[in-house]
Amino acid sequence: MQRPSRRPTDLLAAASLTLAALMFAGNALAQPADTQPPLAHVQIDVHDVQAVRTGALVFMNQCLACHSLQGERFEGLAKLTGLSQQEVARTLKISSRSMLDTIETPMPAALAKSYFGVTPPDLTYEIHLRGADWLYTYFKSFYVDPGRPSGANNVVFHNVAMPNVFAAMQGLQQPVTQEGFRQGQRMPIAVGVKPLTRGSLSPDQFDAVARDLVTFIEHVGEPHQFERHAIGRWVLVITALWTILMYIVYRLYWRDVVRPQGPRWWSYLKR
Ligand code: HEC
Repeated sequence: MQRPSRRPTDLLAAASLTLAALMFAGNALAQPADTQPPLAHVQIDVHDVQAVRTGALVFMNQCLACHSLQGERFEGLAKLTGLSQQEVARTLKISSRSMLDTIETPMPAALAKSYFGVTPPDLTYEIHLRGADWLYTYFKSFYVDPGRPSGANNVVFHNVAMPNVFAAMQGLQQPVTQEGFRQGQRMPIAVGVKPLTRGSLSPDQFDAVARDLVTFIEHVGEPHQFERHAIGRWVLVITALWTILMYIVYRLYWRDVVRPQGPRWWSYLKR
C-alpha cells in the first residue's frame, strides 16, 4: 500500500486552501457596506467668468474666515476673475494685504482646532479630492442637528465639524432619513434634506451660488487649464508634422537597404 505523500507542495496547497476558506468565511461575515447618500449632479462652466467672480466673492466673504487657498495668490484672483488688480482689491476688500500674498485665512490653526476639533483644511486642491458633484451636494445638504456642537450636520459628511455658514442664504433644512447602515450598524441615515425655514435666497438662487462656488474652487485647483488646452492643440499639430517627417526619413533610409519587389507605389498613380 502506498503511503500518502508528505511533499512540501502538498502542505502549501493545504495551507492556501485553508486560507481561501478563511477568507471566504470572513467575507460572508463582513459588515454590510455603509449607505451612500446620492450626489446631486452639477454642470459647471469654467469659462463663465461671472460665475467664477461670484464664487470668489462668496469665498472671500464666507469661507476665508476659516479656510485658506495657499496654492493661489490674491494676484492670481485677478487672472481667474478677469478683473484688474485694483478691481480685485476693491471688490474683495483685500487692500490691507499685499496682492502677492498667498490666500490665507486670518484664523490661527491652533485656535481653529480648539473651536472645531479639527483645523479647517486648505481648499486649493479640494476639487481633485472630492469632485464637483460631491462639493455641490455638500454645500446644499447641511441640516439642523441639535446633537452636534455647531447645531448642524451634513448628508454627505456625517458629523461634520464645519458650522452651517449657508443658513442665512439658504434657510435651515431638516434631514430626510432612510434605514441604512453605518459601520455595520443598522440605523436611520440622512440621505437628503427638505426645507425648514426660508433663507434670503430662493432655492434656485442658492443652487446658483453653490454652483458658482464649485466653479471657483475648480478654477483654483486647475488654474492653467485654458493655457493647457491652447498649448495642447499645437502639440498635436507638431506631433502630426513630426510623424510625416519621420515617415519620409524612414522611406529614404530603407530605399537603399531593401530594393522593393515589383513596381513602386507611385507607379500606380501614373497609370
Ligand atoms: C467657521 C469656520 C468655517 C467656515 C466659515 C467655513 N468652513 Fe468649511 N470647514 C470648516 C471645518 C472645521 C471643516 C472640517 C470639517 C471636518 O473635518 O469635520 C470644514 C470642511 C469643509 C469642507 C470639506 C473638506 C474635506 O474634508 O474634504 C469643504 C469643502 C468646506 N469646508 C468648504 C467651505 C466653504 C466653501 C465655505 C464658505 C462658503 C466654508 N467651508 C466655510 C470650517 C469652516
